[in-house]
Amino acid sequence: MAKQWQGVIREYAEYLDVSDATPIVTLGEGGTPLIPSPSLSRRSGADVYVKFEGMNPTGSFKDRGMTMAVSKAVEHGAKVVVCASTGNTSASAAAYAGYAGIKSAVLVPEGKIAMGKLSQAIIHGAELLQVRGNFDDCLRIARELDEHYPVHLVNSVNNDRIEGQKTASFEIIDVLGDAPDFHFIPVGNAGNYTAYTRGYREYREAGKSTKLPRMFGFQASGSAPIVRGEIVTDPETIASAIRIGNPASWRLALEARDETDGFFGMFDDNEILAAQRILAAETGVFVEPASAISVAGLLSESAKGNIPAGSRCVLTVTGHGLKDPQWALRDLNGNDVTPTVVDADTAAVAEMLGMRA
Ligand code: F0G
Repeated sequence: MAKQWQGVIREYAEYLDVSDATPIVTLGEGGTPLIPSPSLSRRSGADVYVKFEGMNPTGSFKDRGMTMAVSKAVEHGAKVVVCASTGNTSASAAAYAGYAGIKSAVLVPEGKIAMGKLSQAIIHGAELLQVRGNFDDCLRIARELDEHYPVHLVNSVNNDRIEGQKTASFEIIDVLGDAPDFHFIPVGNAGNYTAYTRGYREYREAGKSTKLPRMFGFQASGSAPIVRGEIVTDPETIASAIRIGNPASWRLALEARDETDGFFGMFDDNEILAAQRILAAETGVFVEPASAISVAGLLSESAKGNIPAGSRCVLTVTGHGLKDPQWALRDLNGNDVTPTVVDADTAAVAEMLGMRA
């Protein structure tokens, strides 16, 4: 019988703070494909792989951290988990809490999360509140609830989340045999940037790899506090997952950047959507806009000559395109894409396709 992947806690238990007393709440997250991209390798001159985190159970990388956060919450007797979210964390928290038989309360910015993510939180049974404010307001409230009420916070300010998420770096090294030269990743709260750096560091300390990759993180230009060096009070971008003006892991991210000789950059919404199309059309991977910023980062940095030819590059694409499909149905000028309608006639179809028998 084929061996089934056991989820990140069982696969990497020796690197995580779990014991026999920890009830493992898992949906089989992790073990996601690391896909070689001939197209991006050709465009950049590097040796490029895409870590497709949309293949996790709820369609984003959040599941890696949520299996840890909810397992530890249950171990500590929690009955309610709470989170603030731009959509993916809430989808994941709702699913894992549902599996564990506890409640989830999720706070999202009103009107600012993608339809797919909203529907996930609802169908998995979360108590969902749309807050009149942005993500940063939601996180402030979630932290205050955690401090004063009987709830357990599962945002990435909870270290269990970062611990679970670091397993993505382990998987990359397990597949490639060593760490890559460069790692490209979207940045919102900067929890994942921090988690990958931790994973790469721990595997190197364990003798599983010889180096740390240079960690290159990217924000949307309307929502780029780390790049600009100041809080953005009214962040705006179509990449709603990373519409965050005051990142929770800001300080840790700067430390990780310094440790890895890393870099933070930013792209506007049109550059993000153009990168999303290139990845979908030429590598067959459909990601939500926030995730495509890794691709924009690779193409821009290689065009500037910052990526030596043949460098091994891994791009984390964090969430599935089906969560927020509306952007695929517009062209880059903002016009709706309407598929052509044709009569149910083979000759007519062939003609529309420009073919002759
Ligand atoms: N990509 C996607 C698809 C995300 O959902 C997020 C964060 C990020 C990237 C950025 O990761 O915050 O660790 O730097 N989403 C959070 C949420 C904020 O609520 O789902 P980060």
